[in-house]
Amino acid sequence: MHTKGSCCCCSFEDYKLTTEWLLNQTSHRPKVAVICGSGLGLLADGASNKQTFRYQDIPNFPVSTVAGHEGCLVFGTIEDTPCVFMQGLFHLYEGYSLCQVTFPVRIFKLMGVDSVLVTNASGGICPDFKVGDIMIIKDHVNLPGFAGQHPLCGPNDERFGIRFPCMSDAYSKDLRTLAWDVSVELGCRDVLREGVYCMVSGPNFETIAEARMLLILGCDSVGMSIVPEVTVAKHCGLRVLGLSLITNKVSLDYSREEKVNHEEVLEITQMRAEVLQRLVTALVHRCQQHPDNTH
Ligand code: HPA
Repeated sequence: MHTKGSCCCCSFEDYKLTTEWLLNQTSHRPKVAVICGSGLGLLADGASNKQTFRYQDIPNFPVSTVAGHEGCLVFGTIEDTPCVFMQGLFHLYEGYSLCQVTFPVRIFKLMGVDSVLVTNASGGICPDFKVGDIMIIKDHVNLPGFAGQHPLCGPNDERFGIRFPCMSDAYSKDLRTLAWDVSVELGCRDVLREGVYCMVSGPNFETIAEARMLLILGCDSVGMSIVPEVTVAKHCGLRVLGLSLITNKVSLDYSREEKVNHEEVLEITQMRAEVLQRLVTALVHRCQQHPDNTH
């Protein structure tokens, strides 16, 4: 289990064992999973009847290196919709293999989840974006994947999905439309944007030359997570909605004095967490009523 290296190192039996362990420990049968980006664990606050498992207590689960309340799987319900929240995700820059990073997604699939909402923080590249905007992810650029750091490299297990999956519709159009509709109802439409997210491995923030390259490539924001999880989710037939909070403007100009730092990222995350929570809470429930939910 979870040897180092970029290929998947888990067998179907490893995933099954973890799934069965969880199903034996809880009577919750989640249909929607929420992957909470760093500092966004409180997205689970909108759920009731909660049951929490620490990652370290779940067989085969990677253990989070992040301090605080992150590193937990929280089962619950939102207006009768059974859901599960992943508080704290695993980053490539922490040294996890892509098999570890994406392990929970296949557990969600085997548990019966049909839709995944992913959230994270990213730096705004699109000049129109403001700090505090929430970008609905329309599409992504998998930069680590271009370099062979791809979660689907290695033998393909057809029980999860096909060898050559289509990624041109990784982010459900219906869920994106639903997110716009819900934002109008909640009165937060003015902070919503839509765009292309690019994943880099990190841990350094981009150089100005790199940022300029990403702008030319058509990327609207850049961050260090979620693309492996989304790729594995799409591979196994899950519907995906991605929401990325713009926590800083990426420097595209050598004369710009402001320097990005992690504290700023966390501060803006806290500032917008409440809006994101209201959005996610509404979306968890509403996406189950949505007509394209035919899984
Ligand atoms: N770059 C990469 N990752 C990030 C950024 C950024 O500017 N902001 C938040 N996560």
